[in-house]
Amino acid sequence: MGVFMSAFPHAAAFENAARLFAIGAEQPHQIDAREALLDRAMGPGRTRKSSEAIRQGRLPAEGLAFSATAGDGSLMGTVRLWNIEAGARDGSPVPALLLGPLAVDPQLAGTGIGAALMRHAIAEAARLGHDAIVLVGDPEYYARFGFCADATAALAMPGPFESRRLLALELAPDHLRGASGIIAPAGPPALTAQASSQLLLADVA
Ligand SMILES: CC(C)(COP(=O)(O)OP(=O)(O)OC[C@H]1O[C@@H](n2cnc3c(N)ncnc32)[C@H](O)[C@@H]1OP(=O)(O)O)[C@@H](O)C(=O)NCCC(=O)NCCS
Repeated sequence: MGVFMSAFPHAAAFENAARLFAIGAEQPHQIDAREALLDRAMGPGRTRKSSEAIRQGRLPAEGLAFSATAGDGSLMGTVRLWNIEAGARDGSPVPALLLGPLAVDPQLAGTGIGAALMRHAIAEAARLGHDAIVLVGDPEYYARFGFCADATAALAMPGPFESRRLLALELAPDHLRGASGIIAPAGPPALTAQASSQLLLADVA
């Protein structure tokens, strides 16, 4: 886990040490807390989003699921990235990442946790050799991280979406140039508990 950061510019003024946080890899024991945080931050409609159709039944991209965790171990924020095909160019799929959901505990909104998660996620995606990140979100928030709708004009989500909210950050120059079509999942399927146990049984047979 990384160095603890302060969610507040003047942390010394706050007695609650739990408001220090660290960004690190999402841990298996945080799964339930993450679901609860997403419900609190985004409400029950969160599973009906077009992005969810891409994430459903898939694993996040290798090494690209992150948590913001308080000093007392509580979850303060979450972000994941997913392997996608960002349409195609000259008949070949264009590989990219889909970012989301990004969410911060509503009680801590506006204290820099979202920005810290975004900067960490972008840096790690670049370090791992990915060439572009796509997301659906408010341009008024994501522009500060370099996202804009210019490179996604010929792309579409597999469901209803507002084109002004389909944004991309190209980590490699012009990676999405000429890419067109419907964004599709490209990550490994998530195994159900039943399928996992069958696989384990097959391994030992
Ligand atoms: C959006 C979200 C992740 C931002 O995280 P955060 O930790 O609150 O944000 P930060 O502290 O990094 O940044 C705060 C700044 O972003 C702005 N901001 C937050 N959400 C915004 C939005 N939807 N549109 C425009 N600006 C926004 C705030 O006004 C604030 O502006 P300021 O720096 O000028 O004061 C968080 O508010 C959240 O979880 N929202 C609910 C879930 C959601 O909508 N997720 C995004 C879609 S996947």
